[in-house]
Amino acid sequence: MSEEYVPSPEDRFSFGIWTVGWQGVDVFGTAVRPPMPAERAVYKLAELGAYGVNFHDNDVFDFDATEAERDERIAAFRKALSETGLVVTTATTNLFGHPMFKDGAFTANERDVRRFALAKVMRNLDLAAELGARTYVFWGGREGAESGAAKDIRTALDRYAEGLNLLCEYVREQGYNDLRFAIEPKPNEPRGDILLPTVGHALAFIGSLAHPDMVGVNPEVGHEEMAGVNYAHGIAQALWHGKLFHIDLNGQNGPRYDQDLRFGAGNARGAFWVVDVLESGGYDGPVHFDYKPPRTEDDDGVWASAAACMRNYLILRAKVRRFRADPEVQEALRSSRIAELSSPTLAEGETWRDVQAAASAVDVAALARRGMAYERLDQLALEHFYGVR
Ligand code: GCO
Ligand code: MN
Ligand code: MN
Repeated sequence: MSEEYVPSPEDRFSFGIWTVGWQGVDVFGTAVRPPMPAERAVYKLAELGAYGVNFHDNDVFDFDATEAERDERIAAFRKALSETGLVVTTATTNLFGHPMFKDGAFTANERDVRRFALAKVMRNLDLAAELGARTYVFWGGREGAESGAAKDIRTALDRYAEGLNLLCEYVREQGYNDLRFAIEPKPNEPRGDILLPTVGHALAFIGSLAHPDMVGVNPEVGHEEMAGVNYAHGIAQALWHGKLFHIDLNGQNGPRYDQDLRFGAGNARGAFWVVDVLESGGYDGPVHFDYKPPRTEDDDGVWASAAACMRNYLILRAKVRRFRADPEVQEALRSSRIAELSSPTLAEGETWRDVQAAASAVDVAALARRGMAYERLDQLALEHFYGVR
């Protein structure tokens, strides 16, 4: 195996421990793999060259664990972390598994569910801060509805904002100053329609919160592609807003159920441009994978797929770097006048009057005639992707 594609801690690869721990249960079938203790995921991911992990509270201890059982499970998790040196980059809360969350957590119609959910998050925020997590993810998988009258959306957004505002207050009052929140959008599944379905919806919502500076987004490849929008564009806009606090990388083959394939195994061409955006700068968080080893796999297959997430990222990163360094590409970028977009439309000191006055002098026919040469540029990118350049 080429040395060039071996992960190192500097690559900052991180995994949700629920990914490799997924037992392969689906709507039509029971578990194909045994439960995986959190510590085993840590030891094995460290062996593969991962840098960090992400966890839901109930990935480490059961929902109904006694205090003693919770302490024992956390101790085993911490022991594995200290023995391997893996860091806890991220944490989150399981607000979707237990039947009590069947109608949501922060936006459940039943007020007692909402209050319980907030207490559950606060408890795990304490553990997250203790373990050094910098990002806390909110994936509202059960926040939504299957029918029109079941959820008053505007009121649900009131409750969503109320919950996040309270949790921001909690983090500030506890002094967890390194912890930031990242909302993870998803259009549907498990709910028929999930609130905050895309990066755009989440970015707009964040603007309404009491502490918007503490809240960003955690876009997932598959979720944006389920919605039929371009993930690379979504993370670029999140970067433009200064809101790309985290990423969930995986693979997806277009609008269908959430496949959570290993990174690079779905829309591979799209993955090339995702890596190009991440390599272009502005994101310094973990290169985090949220995927599920397919139900077809045994334990060996689980680790083969985890290793492949990192290997595919490194392969695509090498291709992207070769593309950007290719002199022919740089010449093609010039032909397509890519850099001209960086010139502000108005010159220093100009106003709308100058724009109006200049309009009559524009050579409209020449502008209409001149091609953009994008086909040549994209063919070069495709040939780098194919590995023939
Ligand atoms: C999904 C989601 C989840 C979340 C995770 C973190 O299953 O569709 O992507 O994996 O990312 O629960 O909150
Ligand atoms: Mn997902
Ligand atoms: Mn995810």
